[in-house]
Formats: sequence, structure tokens, C-alpha cells
Amino acid sequence: MFFPRIFQKGINWVSRSKVSVTGAIIVGILLPVLTVSFLFDYLGFIQNPYFGFLLYVLMAPLFVLGLILIFVGTVLLPGREDLGTYTVEYLREQLSRPGRYTRVRRLIYFTVAITLFCVFLVGIVSYGTFRYTASNSFCGQFCHKVMQPQYVAYKNSPHSKVACVECHFGKDATWAERSKFTGIKQLFAVATNSYSRPILSPIDVLRPGRKTCEECHRPEKFQGFMLYSKDKFLYDKNNTKVQTIMIMKVGSGDLEGRNAHGIHWHVSEAQQVYYKAANRARTLITEVKIVEKGKKDVVFERIGGLPDDEIDISAQKRNKLRKMDCVDCHNRPTHIFLSPDEAIDQKITADIIPRYLPYIKRQAVEAVTQDYGSLQMAKIQISRRLQDWYRENYPELIQKKPGLLEKAIQGTIKAYEENVFPDMRVTWGTYKSFLGHKNGSGCFRCHGKLREKKTGRIVSSDCNLCHIVLARDQIKPDIIKILKGNDQR
Ligand code: HEC
Ligand code: HEC
Ligand code: HEC
Ligand code: HEC
Ligand code: HEC
Repeated sequence: MFFPRIFQKGINWVSRSKVSVTGAIIVGILLPVLTVSFLFDYLGFIQNPYFGFLLYVLMAPLFVLGLILIFVGTVLLPGREDLGTYTVEYLREQLSRPGRYTRVRRLIYFTVAITLFCVFLVGIVSYGTFRYTASNSFCGQFCHKVMQPQYVAYKNSPHSKVACVECHFGKDATWAERSKFTGIKQLFAVATNSYSRPILSPIDVLRPGRKTCEECHRPEKFQGFMLYSKDKFLYDKNNTKVQTIMIMKVGSGDLEGRNAHGIHWHVSEAQQVYYKAANRARTLITEVKIVEKGKKDVVFERIGGLPDDEIDISAQKRNKLRKMDCVDCHNRPTHIFLSPDEAIDQKITADIIPRYLPYIKRQAVEAVTQDYGSLQMAKIQISRRLQDWYRENYPELIQKKPGLLEKAIQGTIKAYEENVFPDMRVTWGTYKSFLGHKNGSGCFRCHGKLREKKTGRIVSSDCNLCHIVLARDQIKPDIIKILKGNDQR
């Protein structure tokens, strides 16, 4: 009987050293558990993010360790009998006797098969581990509390179907770069509770770059105008709807640079825009340089001094000249946090908060902008605030249609919990978008703030440079009639 004998021999080998026995026990216990777990994970039976962590980050490496221990114990560490000489002597003995090669061959086959099997297992295990640490559930849910603001905002964004790693690594990232993101340092910070709250933005580690976005969007390939429209609701009794309609001069970042113009001119191939900032958040821009092949650099510098209290000397020293890319304007393509007004407007537009409840815009904004300390407290207090106010001011309406107020309360809570995360100290305005020019930020970090060194020409902040405003916070603007054509619904 070949197999039982070889099995017996295997056990004999392993039992020669305590190290390999330990390894064998680990492998013996984990092999069936892992096999079943892999199967469950593969078939998608278990979605819990901690399951993946247990499987790929704890059990799988432990299993590999077991295999290594067996190897070390049997091959490298001599036990009762020196295995090395044992094997060599055995081979010499066998080879010197013609006609008895069969057993040697079997031994060799057996060793090769076991080695291949182990390499195969280690391969699956490390691939699994890598895939898991690169998955959305690891990024967004395992570090549950830490990533929650980013994860929730992402889930509600147009990019909710794009994996975290597709933006944060891209395709070209090396192993070393990737491991920075899924890195031990971050896990350590989470384990020791030493991470920053909120997580600071912009990020230094694997900030999405042009190549990442250009996997899917290519500003040199689209051009021209884009219509911008936004609905808002006033603070009056009827929550009157007003509309802003603009034509955005998106232009193009033409591939050869011949036609680069408008907003996407900044990402043209023909010339590069570099800038330098005096603080970590990159809101205080002190210098801009346009570099074009075959031409002299055009340098712009800041008009007037910097506000003293906002300069961050260490950041100023650390910050280098940065080449402008997509993320310098689109810094919130997926982790979109709204202002209280925008959040409530969005819920009213989607009829999640009923528009026909008098003063609901005003009352909802008032309710979500209080400081509650925790999400639980916020839910209770928002509900109480709205109930109290409507009971006092519209008792009959609430009695006749209690569902209306209940719907408004749920919608208001939703607006709050999608944007405010007391655990991570993320509140209204923590993460600012650079896409527009709210409070002089975004585009107005440069436009209107810089002057060309040589000619004194100011980087324009003309209201028609980037967009043409067709209607601004107007009730039923005329332009809507034109845009709708014959459709007068
Ligand atoms: C569409 C691309 C995209 C996807 C998908 C994406 N991110 Fe981001 N993420 C960004 C950009 C852009 C920034 C801002 C980078 C900067 O300004 O330096 C960012 C920033 C962050 C930050 C820093 C804090 C902040 O808000 O600026 C964290 C944390 C983060 N992302 C986690 C995640 C997680 C977790 C996922 C998946 C659930 C994810 N990201 C998916 C593009 C993306
Ligand atoms: C894997 C593909 C993919 C990647 C990578 C990607 N996007 Fe997108 N992006 C999409 C899809 C899909 C949409 C949704 C289109 C829609 O809803 O009309 C979108 C929408 C957008 C929009 C319009 C959002 C809106 O409010 O309508 C912007 C702006 C945008 N992406 C910018 C970026 C930027 C900047 C990056 C790089 C950080 C990026 N995208 C990376 C696929 C991608
Ligand atoms: C100078 C700032 C700036 C830079 C740099 C920039 N964009 Fe934009 N982009 C804008 C603005 C402003 C719009 C107009 C749309 C808006 O206001 O939402 C826009 C529009 C877009 C849209 C269309 C969005 C939609 O709703 O359909 C996409 C996609 C996009 N940009 C991708 C990119 C990519 C990819 C890059 C980098 C290669 C990039 N942009 C660089 C400012 C910028
Ligand atoms: C880092 C600085 C910086 C930021 C931030 C910035 N710009 Fe610019 N922008 C410039 C410079 C410099 C020029 C060239 C000015 C010149 O030559 O007079 C320019 C030119 C433009 C032009 C004219 C391009 C043409 O057709 O020649 C538009 C439109 C524009 N920017 C829109 C925007 C918008 C929209 C944003 C915000 C989303 C923005 N910019 C943010 C530096 C910046
Ligand atoms: C450098 C380019 C640039 C210049 C100059 C500029 N804007 Fe804007 N503006 C933008 C962008 C980009 C947005 C935001 C689009 C978005 O949010 O997607 C915006 C948004 C707006 C909005 C809409 C905000 C809302 O609530 O919906 C108004 C109104 C506006 N700008 C008015 C002005 C006025 C008035 C001026 C002149 C003082 C001006 N802009 C100059 C780029 C510019």
C-alpha cells in the first residue's frame, strides 16, 4: 500500500521536530476551516466585513505560517535524526541498487506534489488577502467609524459604483504604493485609536491623479458649454422654489493643446499650471506658474500679503510647486458633503421632505444646524424640535395630517446623518469643495488674487469668464420656458 505508507512516513518526518509539529497542528486545524470559509466567501454567503478580516488578514497568514513552520522543522532543523543526511543516505542506497528506482521516483513525485500544492495554497491565500484589503468593504466598513463619513458620502454620490481603489490607487500603482494605502500604519492608527479626527484633506497618500480620472473621463475629448441648474427653496411660508440657471464654459483641455480653452484649459497637454500654497489645506495660494514648451514661464504672484493667522509655516516649507490636476478643482467628486441649505433643498426636491408643510425649509435648516454631540441625540432632538414647533404653530394641520410631519422629520434626520458625523468631528463645512467660489475659496483661491509678475495683469474674476448666469435665484425664470420648448409641464 503506497499511500498509507507514505502518509506514515510524512507523519514520522513531521514529528521529528517540535517546530514542525506546531506547524502541523496550525495547518491541521485551519485547513478545513479555511476551505469552508473560502467557499462561503466565494459564493457570497457571508457579507459581514469582519468575516473578510478574520479570513484573509488573520487566519490566512496564520495558515501560511503553519506551512513555513512545517518546512523549517522538517528540512532545516535536525530532529532525532538528521533528515538531510537521512535523505541523502537513503538516496545513495537506493540509487546504488539498480531496479529499485521506483521508490525514489515516488519520493520525488511526492515532494514535488506537496510543494506545488503549498505554493498553490499560498498563492490563493495571498491573492485573497490582497483582494480583500483592496475591497470596498475593507476600506469603507472594516474601519467602520474612521471611514464612515467618506463611505456614506460615497454611497450617495454618482461614483458609488466605482471601487475605492480605482480612484485611490489607479491601475499603475506599484505594490509599494498600494501597501501605503492598505498599510500597516493605518491599521496601527486605527488599532491604537491615534488617527486624526476628522481625517485631513487633501490627502498625501495616493491622492487620485489625472490618470485615475482619465480612465473614465477625458476632458480633452469633450468641449463646449454645459448647462448648470439648481433648485433652491426660500425660508418663507410656502417654501417658494427659486432656480439658478447658468451656462458653464467648460471648454476643453485639448490633447494637442491647440484648442485648450475655458475651464478645462488648466489640464491641457500643451501647457502645465503649477501652484504653491502657504497652508496644508492648499487654500492660500501664493504663486502660480504656467509652463509651456518653447516659451518663457509665465509667473503670477499674490496681490497683497497673506492673512498672518492663516499661514502655516511648516506647511509652507513642505509644500512644493504642485502641478494642477483634476482633483485641485474636483476634490469632492464622490465624498460630497453639502451645506445645510443644499442638504435640505435636495431632500425637498426629491420629495423626501414634503414641500407643502409650511416653513419646513426654515425649520429643517434650523433643526439640523444645532450642535447635538452624537447622532443618537441628534435624532431625538431634531424630532422633538420639529414636533414642538409644529404643535405650537400648526396644531390643526398636524392633527389632520400627522404623516406629513413624520415624513418631514425622517427626511430632516436623513439630511443630517448624511452630512454630519459627530464621532469623527465632521460637521457642516468640514470638507469644502473647490469647484465653485463659496466664501472666496475654490476658483477664487487664484482668480482675482494673483497678478502676473511682468505685466501686472490680474488673473480674471470677471463674472462671465467661467459661466453666463441666465437666472439667479428666480421664481419661474423665463429661460426655463425656452429650455423646455413645447413641453410646458
Ligand atoms: C471617484 C473617485 C473616488 C472614489 C471612488 C473614492 N474616493 Fe476617496 N477621495 C477621492 C478624492 C478626489 C479625494 C480628495 C483628495 C484630495 O483632495 O487630496 C478623496 C479623499 C478621501 C479621503 C480623505 C478625506 C477626504 O474626504 O478628503 C478618504 C478617507 C477617502 N477618500 C476614502 C475613500 C473610501 C473609503 C472610498 C470607498 C468607499 C473612496 N475614498 C472612494 C476620490 C475617490
Ligand atoms: C471607473 C470609472 C470612473 C472613474 C475612475 C472616475 N469616474 Fe467620474 N464618473 C463616472 C461615472 C459612471 C459617473 C456618473 C455619470 C452620470 O451619472 O451621468 C461619473 C460622474 C462624474 C462627474 C459628474 C458628477 C455629477 O455630479 O454629475 C464628475 C465631475 C466626475 N465624475 C469627475 C471625476 C473625477 C475628478 C475623477 C477622478 C478623481 C473621476 N470622476 C473618476 C465614472 C468614473
Ligand atoms: C480648473 C478647475 C478644473 C479642473 C482642473 C478640472 N475640472 Fe472638470 N470641471 C470643472 C468645472 C467647473 C466643471 C463644470 C461642471 C460643474 O460646475 O459641476 C467641470 C466639468 C467636468 C465634467 C463634467 C461633469 C458633468 O456634470 O457632466 C467632468 C467629467 C470633468 N469635469 C472631469 C474632469 C477631469 C477628468 C479633469 C482632470 C483631467 C478635470 N475635470 C479637471 C472644473 C475643473
Ligand atoms: C491654482 C490657481 C488657479 C485655480 C485654483 C483656478 N484657476 Fe483658472 N486660471 C488660472 C490661471 C493662472 C489662468 C490663466 C490666466 C491668464 O492667462 O490670464 C486661468 C484661466 C482660467 C480660465 C480662462 C481659460 C482660457 O480660456 O484661456 C478659466 C475659464 C478658468 N481659469 C476657470 C477656472 C475655474 C472655473 C476654476 C475653479 C473651478 C479655476 N479656474 C481655478 C489659475 C487658476
Ligand atoms: C474662475 C471662474 C469663475 C468666476 C470668475 C466666477 N464664477 Fe461663479 N461659479 C464658478 C463655478 C465653477 C461655480 C460652481 C459650479 C458648481 O457648483 O458646480 C460657480 C457658481 C456660481 C453661482 C451659483 C451658485 C449657486 O448657488 O448655485 C453663481 C450665482 C455665481 N457663480 C455667480 C458669480 C458671480 C456673480 C461672479 C462674478 C463676481 C462669478 N460667479 C465669477 C466659477 C466662476
